[in-house]
Amino acid sequence: MSPLEARYRRLLACYPRDHRARHEAEMMGVLQAGARPGQTRPDLADVADLLRGAARVHALIRGLAEHQDQTWAITVSVSGLQQMLARPEITYLIAERDGQAVGYVSWLERISFWSGENYLHLDDLYVTGAERAHGVGEQLMRAAAEAAEGKVIRWEVAESNEAAQRFYTRIGATLAAKKIARWQPK
Ligand SMILES: CC(C)(COP(=O)(O)OP(=O)(O)OC[C@H]1O[C@@H](n2cnc3c(N)ncnc32)[C@H](O)[C@@H]1OP(=O)(O)O)[C@@H](O)C(=O)NCCC(=O)NCCS
Repeated sequence: MSPLEARYRRLLACYPRDHRARHEAEMMGVLQAGARPGQTRPDLADVADLLRGAARVHALIRGLAEHQDQTWAITVSVSGLQQMLARPEITYLIAERDGQAVGYVSWLERISFWSGENYLHLDDLYVTGAERAHGVGEQLMRAAAEAAEGKVIRWEVAESNEAAQRFYTRIGATLAAKKIARWQPK
């Protein structure tokens, strides 16, 4: 193993374990293809991106999509995600254990046309497989609640996701059924 490859592999340790098991080869391929001839250390930009940047967020989002058998729906690129995360209305919180990402919650600040008040629209909540049922999800929701500073938090949960519905009810959320309409005008 070259010194550059060994260093990249150490950096990849910040990814969730189950994601790494499936995608380490692909991620290493991308990193090595982008390396300059004779390069022995990861570029600073690579390091920043891998450790705390959009690439890490991208990996977590893919983890959730894989869990839901919806990998096909992830079409955003790492740089597209990076630009999105820079928008002030978007927040993305990562839960870590021993430096490893073990879950995330993401939300958008929106305005209600009826009340004129801002509210948080929760986009995703996800805890990686082995870390579930240890309170990480609840901690992430409590962190979102703190950031909400009294604003309402709203989100969607699939009717089939009964375990998540139980979890939300347990932390004190109320659930109401509504159909989701989607239209792709031609
Ligand atoms: C829902 C989820 C975020 C909860 O996170 P968590 O860290 O497991 O939550 P906590 O440990 O704080 O609470 C565990 C509770 O969640 C429930 N739960 C929901 N899905 C679960 C799962 N796949 N595995 C284990 N527990 C799950 C447990 O039944 C438990 O409820 P209980 O305490 O009433 O028995 C997490 O299980 C998860 O990521 N699930 C898959 C993705 C998902 O469904 N996200 C929500 C989309 S709307």
